[in-house]
Amino acid sequence: MTTTNAGFDVITGLADDPYQSRVEAVYRDDPAMWRTAIGGDLWFQFGLYDGDDDASLDQAGERYFARQLDLAGLPEGAPVGRILDVGFGWGTTLLHMARRYPDCPRIDGVNISGPQVRYTADRLARAGVADRVRLYQCNAQDLEQIPDREPPYDLVVLRGSIGHLTPSTLEAAMKAISVRTADNAVVVISETLYNIPLGDYRSMIPDEVDRLACGHRKTLAQLVEVLERNSFAVRDLQELPSGPEAIRWLNEIKANIDRDDALPGHRPFAEMRDVAVNLSAALRAGKASIYSVVARRLP
Ligand SMILES: C[S@@+](CC[C@H](N)C(=O)[O-])C[C@H]1O[C@@H](n2cnc3c(N)ncnc32)[C@H](O)[C@@H]1O
Repeated sequence: MTTTNAGFDVITGLADDPYQSRVEAVYRDDPAMWRTAIGGDLWFQFGLYDGDDDASLDQAGERYFARQLDLAGLPEGAPVGRILDVGFGWGTTLLHMARRYPDCPRIDGVNISGPQVRYTADRLARAGVADRVRLYQCNAQDLEQIPDREPPYDLVVLRGSIGHLTPSTLEAAMKAISVRTADNAVVVISETLYNIPLGDYRSMIPDEVDRLACGHRKTLAQLVEVLERNSFAVRDLQELPSGPEAIRWLNEIKANIDRDDALPGHRPFAEMRDVAVNLSAALRAGKASIYSVVARRLP
């Protein structure tokens, strides 16, 4: 069922996702607080520094996404017919793509967080791109229900969202993406993935809570399997950003949280701080990496 609101539609699926409320709780706080923690532009999926000691979180975040789109063979101004962004955060990636591909007539964004969808609708309207970007408050398991089956998607972006999905939601999302994409469409993924059997992994600060609703960890092999099961072939796979760059990004965010009077008292920021410690240790030990994956939908 789809209901229309100012600047976005709400898609209600048939099946319940018991993990949804946990994810929603992570993204409930005022975006102004998140800006203090992760940077004014609200990029929330690591950054590329490329040896630039002075790069801000905003610059590093944008550089990383731009590099991934270059790796996908979609330079600035490339002709792209229709784009889907699954888990668009506060809309930063949508805005970037609307500007990078000014001739793309339709960019669809999906996000389960109501506050993020409402914030993004306002942000895109202010940026003057709302006519080309449609927002859906929708669980990734219900992607098949996005209106207008034609034209199919040429580019699908999943950055930092797969880490929040249960195995069954990931499976349903990838099946729907496969159904709704054109032959040879490109999927661009950035995700924290584990390099050791998940049963062998122990966090440095023990997992007494499911921090940031990222408890359904995945290995690189599991992600590649779900892609291949759904007719996608991996074309480019890299540890990107590198371990040291990802650790720098995590340390900057941890320092921003520690420096602020209010943030550590709010659950997502306290959890983000502990995630920064745990993930830095895992990256240093090679137990996890941040992977950039470009896959193509086989005809
Ligand atoms: C780490 S943020 C990603 C930020 C953004 N993609 C970027 O590159 O900066 C993860 C996003 O995935 C969304 N998300 C998590 N689980 C979801 C689900 N089941 N369905 C739809 N969106 C989901 C969250 O609400 C959040 O906006």
